[in-house]
Parts: sequence; C-alpha cells; structure tokens
Amino acid sequence: MKLKIVKGTRDIYGDDVARFQYIEEKARKVFSLYGYQEIRTPIFESTDLFAHGVGEGTDIVGKEMYLLEDRRGRSLALRPEATAQVVRSVITNNLMQQSSHLRFFYFGPMFRYEQPQKGRFRQFYQIGAEYFGVPTPDADLELVLILRQLFREIQLSEISFHLNTIGCQAPDCRPSYKNKLIAFLETHADALCENCTRRMHDNPLRVLDCKNDSCIAVTADAPKIHDAVCNECRDHFSELCHMLDAHHVRYSLNPRLVRGLDYYSRTVFEVFSDNLGAQNAAGGGGRYDGLFEIYGAKVVPAIGFALGLDRLALLTAPEKKEVKPVFVVGTDRASVCKLVAACREADIICHYDPFQSSMKSQFRQANKTGAWKVLILGEEELKQDLVSVKDMQDSGQVSISRASVVEHLKKQLSV
Ligand code: HAM
Repeated sequence: MKLKIVKGTRDIYGDDVARFQYIEEKARKVFSLYGYQEIRTPIFESTDLFAHGVGEGTDIVGKEMYLLEDRRGRSLALRPEATAQVVRSVITNNLMQQSSHLRFFYFGPMFRYEQPQKGRFRQFYQIGAEYFGVPTPDADLELVLILRQLFREIQLSEISFHLNTIGCQAPDCRPSYKNKLIAFLETHADALCENCTRRMHDNPLRVLDCKNDSCIAVTADAPKIHDAVCNECRDHFSELCHMLDAHHVRYSLNPRLVRGLDYYSRTVFEVFSDNLGAQNAAGGGGRYDGLFEIYGAKVVPAIGFALGLDRLALLTAPEKKEVKPVFVVGTDRASVCKLVAACREADIICHYDPFQSSMKSQFRQANKTGAWKVLILGEEELKQDLVSVKDMQDSGQVSISRASVVEHLKKQLSV
C-alpha cells in the first residue's frame, strides 16, 4: 500500500506546532482578560445545522461541506465553521437561562472542500469568539479590541480592519436594498461572470465580493448598502464607528464586504495582515442577531469572529523560551535511568541516550540537544556514589553525591 496524505490536509509538527501553541497561548491570555470561557464542540454535527444557519445558497454549504452518513442513514457534516455549533450548544444546553450575556472562545479544526493553496487547506484551524446577549455596539467594539490586542500580543501590528454593515431583515432594510441591487445588476448582466449571472437574483450581495475583474468594474457604481439600511442599522453602525475612532482603531469602510455566510446582520468585518496579501483574510466575523430565531429559539443578539490559525502561523515567529535541559551519560543503564527519572520527577527537563552507545557518542548527543549540564555516571562515579556535573558553557565540572544532585540542580535552576 502506498501511503499518501489526503489533499488539502497536512501534519503539523516541529516549529509549526510551536507557532500554533504560541498563538493559542496568547489568545487564551487575551480571552481571559475579556472574560471569555472556552467551549469545545463536536467535530461533526447534523448537516441541517449548517444548511439552515450558514445558508443553503452559500459556497460553504453548497460546495464545500464534507458529508457523511452514519449507520442509521443520518446526514452528518464535518464542521465547516463553529458559530452555528456554539449557538446550537447555547440553545440545547439552555445557557441563556443562566445569564443575560455569555462569552465563549474556541480553538479547533474546521473542514471545507476548497482548492488548496498557500494558507488555504481542507482541514484548517480556527480561533474563534462568540458574544451573546448584547445588542449595542459595545459588543462589536469589544470583539474588534480583542482582535487588535491579540494581534499586538503576537507581534503583528501591520493589520487593517475592513468594516461594513449589511443591515437587517426589516422590509425597509436589506430586502429593499437587495431589490435595488438586483435592478442595477440586471442592467449590467452582460458584463457579469457566469457565477454572478446565476446568483444575481437569489444572492445578489455575493456579486459585490466577486473577484472577477469585470464584476469588480460593474459593481464599482452599484448602490452602496450602508446608504440604504434602515435608521436603526445606520445608527448602530455610526455609533460603532465613533467608538472605534475614540479607541484609535484604524479601519476602512468597505462597501463590498458582505461575507460568505448567510447568518450575518448589521456589522461585518474582516481583518487583513499586510503580509498575507489582499486575497487572504486573517479572520472575519460580524453580528448574527437573527440566528437563534432561525433555529426556532428566542431571539438573542450575537456577534463573533474567527481567525485562521494556519494563516497567522505563517506570519509569526514565537519568542524563544529559555530551556535548560540536562543530559545523563553513563555506563550502567539502570543507574542512568534512575537518575533521569529522578530529574524528571523534580521538574527538570532531562534527556539520555536510549541506546547506551559509547560515552563519546553520548557526549555528542548531549551537545546536539543543547544540554545545559551533563550528568556523568562513569565507572569512577558509580564506585564512589557520585555524579560529575559538567557545565556545557564553561566546561567546569563538580562532583556531587548521587543523593543530593537533584537538589543541587534545582537550586541552580531557581537562581
Ligand atoms: P470565515 O470567514 O468563513 O468565518 O472564516 C474565518 C477565517 O478562517 C478566515 O478569515 C480564514 O482566515 C480562515 N479560513 C477559512 N477557510 C480557510 C481555509 N480553507 N484554510 C485556511 N484558513 C481558512 C467563519 O468561519 C465564521 N464562523 C466567523 C464568525 C464567528 N462569525 C461570527 N462568529
């Protein structure tokens, strides 16, 4: 059998794991400052959850979901995103009954059948946050501030926020804008790409973020949604913009930003890093005040975001933490193993050569692992019940009794 990894997936190890851990650690710190609690949801859910929440007409649901049937013929989907799931969890666990507002964060793999390229995978990882119960722009501001703080923590300050409002479902808001947009697009139908000609009537907003040059040219003069939303949505958006200004957040208004998931209402945003290029958002999110209702639950205003961890990992260089491993070399396997175990139990990072090669080769390995001290258990040391401790920086060597060597190392490590 020829072993091969599945297209669009990858193994993450070595420095990549260090980058993932670094970003996750910083994210945990920022989330805890803002009172977010971790939530872990299943990797698969019923397909309907995403079909109803993310939207039948979206690329994610229509083209990109990994679907499977269980042994009873139920249709399941590997999660393409987690917002719908977290909402499902809040509803099925009655969590809003315990509190007027809730804040959650999550890390984990998502699955989308997309064309793999740099920073785009079929199994990719997200860091996300969802904030439930607060209808005012304070919540929108909070999520943007979390993102800004997180990017600062991972030393990526060259970021830009793109912001838009896509209104709500009130008849004088998005539905009325959609009609205006369709009327405009119909007069330019000849110049639209095949994809946009098809979705012009059922999902006209998506035409605004088509990457095709001709569609970009056509929609440059299209009516702008933020001029067409209802008064409440306009007030919400302008209040948010004032708050962002007051917090010195740099953002640009992007009337083309509509997002690829149907559950959004009002504020939508994406965050870009200068180093990822214009096509690849580091993250995105927005309000989804109508999603609970779609699932038949009482209305709960909500907003959130998700960041692409794979993409962030491409940009970060974790600070190197100083570690001080010791390496035990010796001629007697049992004594070596005993000392190694004692060190590890005392929280000292400790390595040894499992093959017990020659002393010379064991020293070579100690060097290779960047040992801080080498603990030598040679013939002489064993006879006298001693350990020679060699400092690998200055080559100085001291002899310590076997019984007290661990204490000696611990003292040195704590200075
Ligand atoms: P999304 O824009 O679909 O939003 O994904 C968020 C981020 O996940 C993207 O900006 C990107 O960095 C990353 N991402 C998406 N697809 C891939 C891929 N194939 N490979 C690598 N990275 C990818 C959502 O998922 C929403 N649930 C965000 C949200 C949370 N909205 C409200 N709350």
